[in-house]
Amino acid sequence: MELTQDLNDMLNGKYGEGAALALKVQVGIGECFDAPRMLPITNAHVALSNQEADLWFAEKMTALGARTKIPPSVNPGFCLSYFKERGMVTAEEAEHMRRTHEAYKALGCRLTYNCTPYMDTNIPFPNEIIAFSESSATPYVNSVWGARSNRESAQSALCAAITGVVPEYGLLLDENRKGDILVEVQANMKNDFSYHLLGYMGKKIGQGIPVFVGLGNYVSPEAHRNLGAELNTSGAYAMYHIVGVTLEAPTLEAAFGGKKPKRTVVITDDDFAQVLETEISDPGNRKIDFALFGCPHTSIREIQHIAGKLEGKKVKVPLWIMTSALTKSNAEKMGLLDVVRAAGGDIVEDTCSDQPCWHLYKGKVGVTESPKCAYYPRKRGLDFVIRDLDVCLDAALKGAVE
Ligand code: F3S
Repeated sequence: MELTQDLNDMLNGKYGEGAALALKVQVGIGECFDAPRMLPITNAHVALSNQEADLWFAEKMTALGARTKIPPSVNPGFCLSYFKERGMVTAEEAEHMRRTHEAYKALGCRLTYNCTPYMDTNIPFPNEIIAFSESSATPYVNSVWGARSNRESAQSALCAAITGVVPEYGLLLDENRKGDILVEVQANMKNDFSYHLLGYMGKKIGQGIPVFVGLGNYVSPEAHRNLGAELNTSGAYAMYHIVGVTLEAPTLEAAFGGKKPKRTVVITDDDFAQVLETEISDPGNRKIDFALFGCPHTSIREIQHIAGKLEGKKVKVPLWIMTSALTKSNAEKMGLLDVVRAAGGDIVEDTCSDQPCWHLYKGKVGVTESPKCAYYPRKRGLDFVIRDLDVCLDAALKGAVE
């Protein structure tokens, strides 16, 4: 790979050992993909996970004196003050989160702790070259905003934020942004929950860039978020097109760049029913122990909807809504936090479903509207019945789900 004099200097340690290591990692990645050179970035998002390997890498970088040139937004871990105060995490878990916070702070990251930055705090422009990790974030920024990011890992996105460059390959190039698979959606797309199920069709859709038809001419921001999150729970996708909706797909021909689709896949209501009943959800018609929403993080419109359903009522089981600090503070100003709390629920900021703060529900069964929310915490012994948001809210009010 050809590097500029400045990047050669960086690789040779002129800007410190941390920057040199970050660039070495990126040169390795670039060489794997035959990237001819590095391109500057103007934005980044790091999918911090507050897990062992994540902390190891972040602390290694701080020990080597690295600092981010492009301060990235970051994913949630858990809200240390909230869960510590309530005795919901052990001293060791709290210490781990504290170290994560300190490491990313020392790196100069924007401590947004939010997995949907593309909806408010970190929105790129069309054609902007960026480095985004996080399952729903990469497809959203490419597909909805028309920015250019490869499917970065938390570590490669952090390296990019440190060096300020990314290797030129993949989705940074026009020719790789065209569709491969035609996906005809014949299922009834009733609401944003349907997009969770559509996204979970990753195994049926297969590898490549899907081009969806049959979704009308408006898809909500929350539906895009759900689609990307689940595509990357059931498979690995950095971009999709929705004909007549996403930026680079005004027509079917434009979406495929004039090529023929490699294959056509049809998605029906039967596919949704099958995946829900046999793959992702625990069986319904049972008592539940809790309700958990916001994987990926809940939007203010969804909190308004939830508060509207809960107003003047009381939940029978604990109900948690995960969102960004920004959205929570907005919900507080709008009086929605009071409504949710009066009903017996709560809104928590900076928190992810795949964190130790939820271990009090080990061996218990919750309801959620998100297959991703069920997928990762299962490793921690939490089980979920998955239903659309309104059915979940009814279940929280009754203590049982249909
Ligand atoms: Fe966000 Fe964590 Fe879910 S990062 S998408 S809440 S697994």
